[in-house]
Amino acid sequence: MTLYAYFHKQFVPLSEAKIGIMTHSLHYGTALFEGIRGNWNSERKQIYLFRLKEHYERLHKGCRVLKISLPYTIDELCRITVDLVERCGFQEDIYIRPLAYKSSESLGVRLHDLDDDFLVFAFPWGPYLGDKARCCVSSWRRPDDNVIPPRIKITGLYVNNAFAKTEAVENGFDEAIMLTPDGHVSEGTGENIFLVINGKLITPASYNNILVGITRDTVIKLAQNELGVETIERPIDRSELYVAEECFLTGTAAHITPVAEVDRYKIGSGEVGEITRKLQEIYSDVIRGNNSKYLDWCTAVYKE
Ligand SMILES: Cc1ncc(COP(=O)(O)O)c(C=O)c1O
Repeated sequence: MTLYAYFHKQFVPLSEAKIGIMTHSLHYGTALFEGIRGNWNSERKQIYLFRLKEHYERLHKGCRVLKISLPYTIDELCRITVDLVERCGFQEDIYIRPLAYKSSESLGVRLHDLDDDFLVFAFPWGPYLGDKARCCVSSWRRPDDNVIPPRIKITGLYVNNAFAKTEAVENGFDEAIMLTPDGHVSEGTGENIFLVINGKLITPASYNNILVGITRDTVIKLAQNELGVETIERPIDRSELYVAEECFLTGTAAHITPVAEVDRYKIGSGEVGEITRKLQEIYSDVIRGNNSKYLDWCTAVYKE
């Protein structure tokens, strides 16, 4: 199978898509990325791209903040992405990585007076975390919006996430949970976090320095519509993690991953909780185009 990229306004083999060593974004983290899943439905021999439009809406918003002028509308970005995946001919779960970046081969810290470009590529990618995650609270704090806005996916910001992830893994955990500068629960290094307390979902609010995730939004809607479970968005104290009935992480890469323990405190029984399990089942059907109510969220790649 040949993997392709959309690069410099054309489709090229991924192995030929290279950028120069003086590219601005390589030096200063002046780029924005997205992560989009394509979910393989083996019965229908179809790949469904999940909430494609919402990912490009978020990218467009981020570009305004980072002063990147994207020469593509959201519809054009969706079309390019569908064409890319079709050209690769995947028959498995995939991950798609769009990048809007300061492409000038010019040094100097700034956002202005630089050229911008867009690229996207896709590759096969299975589950990101295991069946259950063992987490720790990170010693690395999530930065405030006035430091680097976490609500957009600026590549440079992800050094913060990388510090936290590596610290967690080197200490024997699967994932880190980062706190806000004022000590409230924020998010994982690539996931939002939910707790179940008194049968309700609790998740940090948008002002708790989170990336406002598309999977987070999906889970809030599915919990309400399909299970009648309400979500409360509010600041969460660290110790609430230790006594939650259930806890799970959500993200495009991680889907819905149950958290078995935090800082060696077992969550519930340490097994997958009931609400988490039900949400996982519903979500898994929805993202593979198996729930007709939510087909609007799924973009089919291959002609049917
Ligand atoms: C820091 C962070 N939080 C949360 C998420 C989950 O966001 P989404 O559900 O849109 O993938 C991601 C993944 O993109 C992320 O990088």
